[in-house]
Amino acid sequence: MLQQVNGHSSGSDAQGGKSLREDLQEFLGGEALLHELDDLTKVNPVTLETVLRCLQARYAADMFYTSAGCTLVALNPFKPVPQLYSPALMREYHAAPQPQKLRPHIFAVGEQTYRNVQSLIEPVNQSIIVSGESGAGKTWTSRCLMKFYAVVAASPTSLESHKIAERIEQRILNSNPVMEAFGNACTLRNNNSSRFGKFIQLQLNSAQQMTGAAVQTYLLEKTRVTCQASSERNFHIFYQICKGASVDERLQWHLPEGASFSWLPNPERTLEEDCFQVTREAMLHLGIDIPTQNNIFQVRRKGIPLTFGRCDGQPLS
Ligand SMILES: Nc1ncnc2c1ncn2[C@@H]1O[C@H](COP(=O)(O)OP(=O)(O)OP(=O)(O)O)[C@@H](O)[C@H]1O
Ligand SMILES: [Mg+2]
Repeated sequence: MLQQVNGHSSGSDAQGGKSLREDLQEFLGGEALLHELDDLTKVNPVTLETVLRCLQARYAADMFYTSAGCTLVALNPFKPVPQLYSPALMREYHAAPQPQKLRPHIFAVGEQTYRNVQSLIEPVNQSIIVSGESGAGKTWTSRCLMKFYAVVAASPTSLESHKIAERIEQRILNSNPVMEAFGNACTLRNNNSSRFGKFIQLQLNSAQQMTGAAVQTYLLEKTRVTCQASSERNFHIFYQICKGASVDERLQWHLPEGASFSWLPNPERTLEEDCFQVTREAMLHLGIDIPTQNNIFQVRRKGIPLTFGRCDGQPLS
């Protein structure tokens, strides 16, 4: 059956030119070199198959970033690739005369955006949109960008100011574990799925140093607190508290050791996100002191601790 794909017909055209099928065969015949196509605009003919084959070849060759014109396509490696995010690589992209000429990378996008702010006489805001399906790597990519800016846009800290406050970049990075503890949960698609959207604003001064950040969150999936799909979990923070609270805190918060709660299904799953200490330290660095943290962890309504229902239906205290 003849098919029209991006203006090509899959049969021979009227002028006796090459058919799309022939173009396809020719393109895919050079499969050994497919991974070298670092920009999807170079893929010809553009069909779902050729684009996917190109991305597949790059994935197989451990090339996880590909340009598509001015958009960057990021493939999730689903494995640690430390050399892909090293501080040395950040510096390489930052120092490059033309970062876009280097291999496609999230750091190239970060650097180009940073330069766009810098080069204009009147500073103009720049935005990076990170989108994709659940588990695609959006949160990972946002973290990479924040780490990148924390390095390239770091403000010079005098010893004195360092004593007074944590470096602003560190505080920005510390916002991630806190947001993820309270807003992420283990779902069928992603062990660390963000159950909210966020708009992160990084603020630079006229010397292009980071002076602050603001995060707006929206559409938090609040219903998850009381209702979770089977095989999914509640928000990480609840498991962190249950697994990481001290003996005193357990007493105070009505959390007997080993108790199970109907609103906290699948607690036996051990995730790296289940780390209460990391959340507490990050909160501390953000200026949330221990008494305030304790108030947060023992959410009370009219003086009554808001506890979770026990699976066995027994009262908690
Ligand atoms: N570049 C990467 N390198 C290594 N692992 C990655 C990378 N990107 C993503 N991952 C892995 O994939 C997992 C899912 O990624 P991430 O949480 O960023 O997805 P997401 O797009 O934010 O999904 P959701 O919409 O559910 O929040 C991460 O926990 C991590 O294990
Ligand atoms: Mg996410």
